[in-house]
Amino acid sequence: MTAPNAPKRLYLETWGCQMNVYDSERMRDLLAPLGYAASDTPEGADLVILNTCHIREKATEKVYSEIGRLRKLKDEKAKAGGRMTLAVAGCVAQAEGAEIMARAPAVDLVFGPQAIHKLPEMIATAHRAAGERLETAFEAEAKFDALPDERIVDGPSAFLSVQEGCDKFCTFCVVPYTRGAEYSRSVDAIVAEARRLAAKGVRDITLLGQNVNAFHGIGPDGQVWNLAQLLRHLSLIGGVERLRYTTSHPREMDDDLIAAHADTPAVMPYLHLPVQAGSDRILKAMNRKHTAAEYLAIVEKLRAARADIALASDFIVGFPGETERDFENTMALVRAANYAQAYSFKYSRRPGTPAAEMHGQVAPEVADDRLQRLQALLLEQRRAFNAGQVGRRLPVLFDRPGRKPGQVQGRSPYQQSVHIEGPQSLIGRIAEVEITAATDNSLTGALVPAQAAA
Ligand code: 5AD
Ligand code: SF4
Repeated sequence: MTAPNAPKRLYLETWGCQMNVYDSERMRDLLAPLGYAASDTPEGADLVILNTCHIREKATEKVYSEIGRLRKLKDEKAKAGGRMTLAVAGCVAQAEGAEIMARAPAVDLVFGPQAIHKLPEMIATAHRAAGERLETAFEAEAKFDALPDERIVDGPSAFLSVQEGCDKFCTFCVVPYTRGAEYSRSVDAIVAEARRLAAKGVRDITLLGQNVNAFHGIGPDGQVWNLAQLLRHLSLIGGVERLRYTTSHPREMDDDLIAAHADTPAVMPYLHLPVQAGSDRILKAMNRKHTAAEYLAIVEKLRAARADIALASDFIVGFPGETERDFENTMALVRAANYAQAYSFKYSRRPGTPAAEMHGQVAPEVADDRLQRLQALLLEQRRAFNAGQVGRRLPVLFDRPGRKPGQVQGRSPYQQSVHIEGPQSLIGRIAEVEITAATDNSLTGALVPAQAAA
């Protein structure tokens, strides 16, 4: 028997979105006091957690094949007299927990995103090998309260979860089923966490939520606050110089939030505002609850508030029933909105969602062709956006060494990666950089000389 807090090795594998990356960080934090130290490989680990993502179709199969690979390592460890606990977390666990337990006996523990705070308890239970092994109940309120205060922070940028869940029920999406109803943390809890981050040198905070701009948390005055109020409040914390939020829904992009982009300098000129499609017919079938024109009207208001804003989006091509004409409407919307950055996907049929039952599933080769055309246009726009920065001076927050010796790397206000020749002492600081060149994915520049001497 090992003592409860003896050093143990934890291997955490994270798939999917930033929410999962954030959840994995919290799992690491929760397990550190129990003696678990992160390991880069599963070989010989005492605890393996697969933090899974359910958003695209093959995800579940990938999880099973990874479980198969890990089972061998688990058997090896058992033969050597040790024990590897295997846990499946995240959205696949939430959606298919019971099935995983039935199909993969090597798995000791399955728990959904709402049960992370109970991880130490669940591991103890699993170690006793009997009793409750499945934990997928929705308990959002308790989840946040039970998380530890101290967070492991690496570098000047950090995520801060302010909202969870989604009630939008887009017909292609599993999130409302796997993450549950919308829930916002209280402003006090968020501010306390932001202060702790700032005290550790964090200058740039990205507020996270599946529907972050639907934020409606209780403020210190007992009233319900919106995201604009929260952003303005957080911008007053000393050290917090940059604020972003992701991901947003067009329906929740209200005038106050748009105004915050104009009146609060810490709110960065970058916004990820997924539109998914540009055809009103498809938007309706997707249950997005807005038209293409309404989306473009929001874009216009945003540009009026902050002319240089970098817009980002998500797109789905090949949604059931999408015709060439519908797709052309998506291309037209992209031309009108002009994106700095975007993610585009082929529609993936998710059993249990309304779209999975719709007629007119699009042939894969047609979807492939549309995806290529869309991505070519989006790449052209990204290139133009990056090229447009050449010759400008931008404040860059340096966060890591560059790829080559003597280089440092950071982020522009528009979220582009920027690298320069410069001292490593810049890391953690914001400095003015003159942009000299641009590629598809990054910018190159030189430190503005007056500051180099300062
Ligand atoms: N098929 C393809 N893409 C999807 N997304 C979500 N569900 C699906 C699906 N079933 C995409 C959306 C969303 C992003 C996170 O993933 O574009 O904005
Ligand atoms: Fe899914 Fe739509 Fe909710 Fe985004 S807004 S998480 S796409 S249901």
